[in-house]
Amino acid sequence: MKILVTGGAGYIGSHITRQAQRQSHDVCVLDDFSTGNEWAVKDCETLRVNLLDKDLLKKCLRGRNFDGVIHLAAKSLVGESIINPYTYYENNIVGSLNLLNEMLRNDIHRIVFSSTAAIFGNPRTNIIREDHPKNPINPYGRTKLVVENFLNDLSISKKLSAVCLRYFNAAGADPDGELGEAHDPETHLIPTILNSYDRAKQPFKVFGNDYPTPDGTCIRDYVHVNDLADAHLLALQKLQNTDGFSEYNLGSSVKNSVMEVIKTCEGVTGRPLNYEIDEHRLGDPAVLVADNTKALTELGWQPVFNNLDKIIETAWNWHKRLSM
Ligand code: UFG
Repeated sequence: MKILVTGGAGYIGSHITRQAQRQSHDVCVLDDFSTGNEWAVKDCETLRVNLLDKDLLKKCLRGRNFDGVIHLAAKSLVGESIINPYTYYENNIVGSLNLLNEMLRNDIHRIVFSSTAAIFGNPRTNIIREDHPKNPINPYGRTKLVVENFLNDLSISKKLSAVCLRYFNAAGADPDGELGEAHDPETHLIPTILNSYDRAKQPFKVFGNDYPTPDGTCIRDYVHVNDLADAHLLALQKLQNTDGFSEYNLGSSVKNSVMEVIKTCEGVTGRPLNYEIDEHRLGDPAVLVADNTKALTELGWQPVFNNLDKIIETAWNWHKRLSM
């Protein structure tokens, strides 16, 4: 397939691009490199475009006949979205509208959209199915839900077909060692723990140990980034044969608390972690775990990195390379 990956220089986007290349797809990356990394894109056409730059976008996509678009280009930090909602509404919603406009103008009718567990807000059930009520509690989640709803409306009007993939906690790194998580600033749990091994005097902060969970720390569903990548390619494959709108929760369906992640990091690295208990972080639900049954059965998705040790080993190998 000829695939356009927007945000293809970012953490998840670059792993999708690499997996697509491994499967011999013809990939083109579109990224403004505001948070993406040049080193993360190799051996493919690259369009340096910000989705808010309508003229440049129009010029770059004119006459292009992609079989489908995997759309990740967006701002994606919950905390930042609370401080700066305008940037989130503009980038994530207006940017997506601009992209969709150019797709339709060029007869590109298939899109896989990068969505998030944040659209569910505070979950009412511990295991979240696709039909769980959607009540996002921060601007990031709200912008993703607006785009999901718009894609649904476009599919009803028969303008295009869409699959929305809601990530739970993306983690790990490509086992080949050339790609991995490198955000600046880093806020995600596993890379923050691994980074704190390099700063022995600054303890890692556990955001709360009095949640209603067995050990008092938040429970999440960590899913390997290459498994997420595979799901995108399966979703695009599905769109070659099926019209309409569909949605999938992408997680491992395995529960791990922050303390369990710390213990696993200590096991993988062979080093004790210097940590302390801190306040709750604003907007953190106690438990967020996906029911991934629909993705397994309908997409034929088969996550390979099905335990936390394997996921953290790949993250640690990447971390060691980064800090060399
Ligand atoms: N945590 C710490 N200390 C840290 C960093 C994280 O204790 O320094 C804890 C958090 O409180 C949370 C868990 O580790 O309980 C995971 O935190 P992450 O920041 O790694 O991930 P989130 O669960 O906050 O974020 C995920 C996705 C987002 C999505 C969000 C929805 O990465 O895209 O879930 O709540 F929006």
